[in-house]
Amino acid sequence: MTSSASSIPVVTIDGPAASGKGTLAAGLAATLGFHLLDSGIFYRMVGWKALESGVPLTDEATLIRLAVGLRPRFDGEAVWLDGREVSRTLRQQEVGTAASKVAALEGVRAALLHAQRMARRLPGLVADGRDMGTVVFPDAACKIFITAGVEARAQRRHKQLIEKGLPSNITTLLQEIGERDARDAGRDVAPLKAAPDALKIDTTTLDAPAVLAQALTYCRSRLDDFAVC
Ligand code: C5P
Repeated sequence: MTSSASSIPVVTIDGPAASGKGTLAAGLAATLGFHLLDSGIFYRMVGWKALESGVPLTDEATLIRLAVGLRPRFDGEAVWLDGREVSRTLRQQEVGTAASKVAALEGVRAALLHAQRMARRLPGLVADGRDMGTVVFPDAACKIFITAGVEARAQRRHKQLIEKGLPSNITTLLQEIGERDARDAGRDVAPLKAAPDALKIDTTTLDAPAVLAQALTYCRSRLDDFAVC
């Protein structure tokens, strides 16, 4: 990373599936006027392309080629890939599961690192994922790790999917989220874990505005040196 990149403030938000990272990241980015990086979308794109083209989710060499060849176009909330608008497709539960499998491969993670770091632009970046504070932006000014009980997370994801008109089954969701947690936290490379210097927030009984308020107070104190908020 160049010295000028390190002068651009970054807020990292890590945590397990459906813990509220996306909502918090969007709220913080809007309030601070920062750019937003949803890093999971890169793993979802690789997972989706593998499912589409029948590439086994263990074929690391081919998956690395898919990752290197990604040419997404972001247009507000819309994500375009290979000439198709894939935002809704990428949110499907089976794509999330495929994403978590390809994300366990070191070569795939390495291939996606540069694209994620390129998102660091003035006036600042809010980045959400699993390894934002530990691997991708270890020098971030403000790190947050959010958790919530698995039942609460399954209920939230169920609501989100239904609202988006996507199929959802709460029993399957509970099982898939549990499996994804175990895979994301148990992998050898960049496992899901809190950076030692992260603020931990348990969102099980908190609503989104309460989480945002807590995070904002913390971030504002940490971002003082950057004079951006
Ligand atoms: O956050 P989201 O559910 O979209 O992420 C999909 C999957 O991508 C996660 O389950 C995780 O395995 C992987 N991921 C990751 N590192 C990130 C972001 C996502 O390993 N920084």
